[in-house]
Amino acid sequence: MSYKVTLVGATGAVGREMAAVLAQRGFPVGELRMLASARSAGKTLSWNGREIVVANLDEADFSRGEIVLSSAGGKVSKVFAPRAAAAGAVVIDNTSAFRMVPDVPLVVPEVNPHAAKNHHGIIANPNCSTIQMVVALQPLHAYGRLTRIIVSTYQAVSGAGARAMEELTRETRAHLSGAAPAHDVFPHPIPFNVLPHIGGFLPNGYTEEEMKMVNETRKIMEVPDLAVTATTVRIPAYRGHSESIYIETEKKISADLARQLLSRAPGVVVMDDPTNQLYPQPIIAAGRDETFVGRIREDLSRPTGLNLWCVSDNLRKGAALNAVQIAELLAEKGWLPRG
Ligand SMILES: NC(=O)c1ccc[n+]([C@@H]2O[C@H](COP(=O)([O-])OP(=O)(O)OC[C@H]3O[C@@H](n4cnc5c(N)ncnc54)[C@H](OP(=O)(O)O)[C@@H]3O)[C@@H](O)[C@H]2O)c1
Repeated sequence: MSYKVTLVGATGAVGREMAAVLAQRGFPVGELRMLASARSAGKTLSWNGREIVVANLDEADFSRGEIVLSSAGGKVSKVFAPRAAAAGAVVIDNTSAFRMVPDVPLVVPEVNPHAAKNHHGIIANPNCSTIQMVVALQPLHAYGRLTRIIVSTYQAVSGAGARAMEELTRETRAHLSGAAPAHDVFPHPIPFNVLPHIGGFLPNGYTEEEMKMVNETRKIMEVPDLAVTATTVRIPAYRGHSESIYIETEKKISADLARQLLSRAPGVVVMDDPTNQLYPQPIIAAGRDETFVGRIREDLSRPTGLNLWCVSDNLRKGAALNAVQIAELLAEKGWLPRG
């Protein structure tokens, strides 16, 4: 059996990665459509040996049983996704438009695959920083039940899209040649800098990205009152978000046990050999599917506290791979409307 698959936002950083992941994982694609804005309509993109002409989303119709992988921003999703779902398509949406809508499943296949079953045509793909964190924490939660998460992120510029990656390159060249760096995507220069600011600032003093990590983690892990606090930070890496994660659990988890639990966990690679300077880094995770965990240490000041360092490619597991894994789950379980 093969499926009609449509990429919305096909020309963007996540859209291109989703196309690559579909081909690399051999997803049974019958027809592949690529949609973007009127700006890109008519451009050609290659996929799996085929040349596909990008079409204008505004002029596209959707059909029953079609799988739509969407990453064109929240405003765009809010308009087209309900229309696609009403036509019987299933939209797997990378934006934040529907993540916290109660009857929209928010799914990480390693953590809550069951949630996908009850979709009504839209399934939300979580925020990139949240996905890698819950993949790393679910095995520890299953053993010892989390009571507290304190996370600080070090996020790559690709999390802000294709233009942000170009800005890092352009500004770095300007900086090294002595020219005044001009920035557009970020509010301050990003080369040789660190910005404690991802998403807009909210009245409570947190950023949107920080509150996504709080709220989405609770929804995916199905612990509505889980104590979570986050500080999200942009760094001048291209691909791969890093996270310093501190947890407390009801039942103590030693560092050795955490290594054992994580080494058996789907999608996780334990990389934790300090004597050989081996620990996860963005340049190791870039282009890879796994979530890497290292620097596992017991908190010396709290009986059940544990520190972890977690790195994953934000464009792969943080976006494209997770979306394609959801499509695979729907196909395998027969949770798609019949075409
Ligand atoms: N980057 C990440 O790590 C990441 C991770 C998780 C989720 N996300 C989310 O995914 C979404 C896209 O992110 P990105 O990094 O891929 O951004 P991007 O590189 O800027 O790409 C945006 C895509 O959306 C399309 N688009 C923009 N306005 C449109 C419109 N009015 N109608 C149709 N298509 C339109 C663009 O097409 P044109 O070529 O025509 O402009 C482009 O294909 C965002 O909501 C983001 O928050 C990103």
